[in-house]
Amino acid sequence: MDGVRVRPMREDDLPFTERASAATFLEADRATRRVSDPQPEPRSATAARQWVERMRFLLRVDPGGCWVAVDSRQQSGDVVGFAISQNRERLWYLATYGVLPSHQGQGIGKRLMDAALAHAEGRAGIFFSSAHPGATRRYRLAGFSLHPQMRMVGTVDRSTLPAVDGLREGRADDVEWMDALDRRLRVAGHGPDHGYLLDSLRLMVSRDRRKPGYVYIDDRGRASLLAAAHPETAQRLLWEALAASQGRTLVNCITASNEWAIDVGLAARLDIGQEGYLAVRGMAVPANYLAGGHFL
Ligand SMILES: CC(C)(COP(=O)(O)OP(=O)(O)OC[C@H]1O[C@@H](n2cnc3c(N)ncnc32)[C@H](O)[C@@H]1OP(=O)(O)O)[C@@H](O)C(=O)NCCC(=O)NCCS
Repeated sequence: MDGVRVRPMREDDLPFTERASAATFLEADRATRRVSDPQPEPRSATAARQWVERMRFLLRVDPGGCWVAVDSRQQSGDVVGFAISQNRERLWYLATYGVLPSHQGQGIGKRLMDAALAHAEGRAGIFFSSAHPGATRRYRLAGFSLHPQMRMVGTVDRSTLPAVDGLREGRADDVEWMDALDRRLRVAGHGPDHGYLLDSLRLMVSRDRRKPGYVYIDDRGRASLLAAAHPETAQRLLWEALAASQGRTLVNCITASNEWAIDVGLAARLDIGQEGYLAVRGMAVPANYLAGGHFL
């Protein structure tokens, strides 16, 4: 499209990219909302700050995977699209991707995706896809398999919570075995992402090193990233997160390979729904694994 340039992202693009992301996903949430869903809310100031800090971290770790589209006909700094991806060992992941509604359907998304994918250099790939028809079309054309995902919402019936044993708080010196577990489940360790997550979220791990597993739990008590070698460990970790939940909670990114999570959610009296896809290329869909937000 004339006047729109796709170029590597810089730190001074972050606030403009955050605004573009907030507007893009609010509109996408509105367009795909089911009648039973609550009205999507604009991103809060706190969430906006967290988004900028998280993307600043990714930009510093692997800037070659981070791209923006800028419309030169508008004010300087006018970011109209973004694709933020990262390489970790043999894995490429796409943390976030979008084009402003006013600029969609003009080929900008394809150019951003081409730039981010060139950075992958043949690595395996993983990311979430919304159900947006332009998004799913673009991903399948780029060679990704689309695996439908479920998500569970509701307020945990606390009378169902079991006494969870065999877990302890995680520490920085757990990261080495956590990376080894990641490699078994999703090709590559999270590497520096664990450092970032440890600083911002609560980490719980399995005490039994023969049955390793971990979960990051956010300040609302939601499981943000969960990995385990065995489904029983994964279930204990998810119960731990559900016990920490406050009010209405959400467990998402559940593929059919993760029915252990459905069994926990149903026992806790959460409701199952369907939401988007997990897109993978060059790897199997991870089992005993719930990918987390921007970190997959
Ligand atoms: C997904 C998204 C980034 C694509 O960006 P875009 O600039 O609109 O994409 P393009 O114009 O390059 O089009 C991509 C492909 O999808 C098609 N397409 C675009 N919008 C479409 C629509 N509403 N319905 C069907 N196909 C559509 C295009 O024809 C194109 O296919 P082609 O290359 O074979 O012609 C953008 O639509 C978006 O931000 N959506 C909302 C947020 C979102 O879902 N992000 C992805 C989250 S994982």
